[in-house]
Amino acid sequence: MKIFCEKDYQAASRRAANIISAMIISKPDCVLGLATGSSPVGAYEYLVKRYEAGDLDFSLVTSVNLDEYKGLSGDNGQSYRYFMDTHLFNYVNIRKDHTFVPDGLEPDSQKACEAYNQIIRSVGGVDLQLLGLGHNGHIGFNEPGDFFEKETHCVDLAASTIEANKRFFEKEEDVPRQAYTMGIQNIMFARKILIVVSGEAKADIVAKAFCGPITPQVPASVLQLHKDVTLVGDQAALSKLEKSM
Ligand code: F6R
Repeated sequence: MKIFCEKDYQAASRRAANIISAMIISKPDCVLGLATGSSPVGAYEYLVKRYEAGDLDFSLVTSVNLDEYKGLSGDNGQSYRYFMDTHLFNYVNIRKDHTFVPDGLEPDSQKACEAYNQIIRSVGGVDLQLLGLGHNGHIGFNEPGDFFEKETHCVDLAASTIEANKRFFEKEEDVPRQAYTMGIQNIMFARKILIVVSGEAKADIVAKAFCGPITPQVPASVLQLHKDVTLVGDQAALSKLEKSM
């Protein structure tokens, strides 16, 4: 695993954007696996700046997002489709029909998940998967459990995830209780993985995920088995890692 310890969130975001940019430049028709949440926002801002400067071309890029709330439409301000449009897709020249997010409006979970697995297969798999890390160790919405779910599935969100994500909603009751998410196998099949973490509140889980036992109780710990993982974080988030390694 490669680790980049940066002084703050801005520097970590810039580093992450550099790694994503390198992928786009070296493989213009790459497939990016993308994430939402606070962690990648800064990296998306840098990518937009680089596109505006003429240094990046997204015209051949395809993207597949990790997850989507079940029950939210793409134009709902809290949906992950909306997040991607308003943080990245609307500001670069990516073809919208080459951007994929699970269909939150499909009520039939099996149908929604099978369709998404088929999309991931049809684009030829993911070249670079960007991830954030939940406080409970989740990646995508793969919550702690007794086993690793392989492919896209419908999850009941953990209470801690609902708590963490309520900041994006008016009130906690508005946070959807279920989501569609890529599974661990979908994530592990990505050729490269880039995980971005920041803030002291992530320090414990970062140490657990990357230095602790590999267990579905800490879903991100499975990344220890991937051959090409880059962890980018600020000093606060990585502060307990050095001691545990
Ligand atoms: C988002 C996602 C989640 C987040 C995680 C961390 O698409 O899949 O796993 O990456 O909840 O969220 P932040 O970055 O807001 O701390």
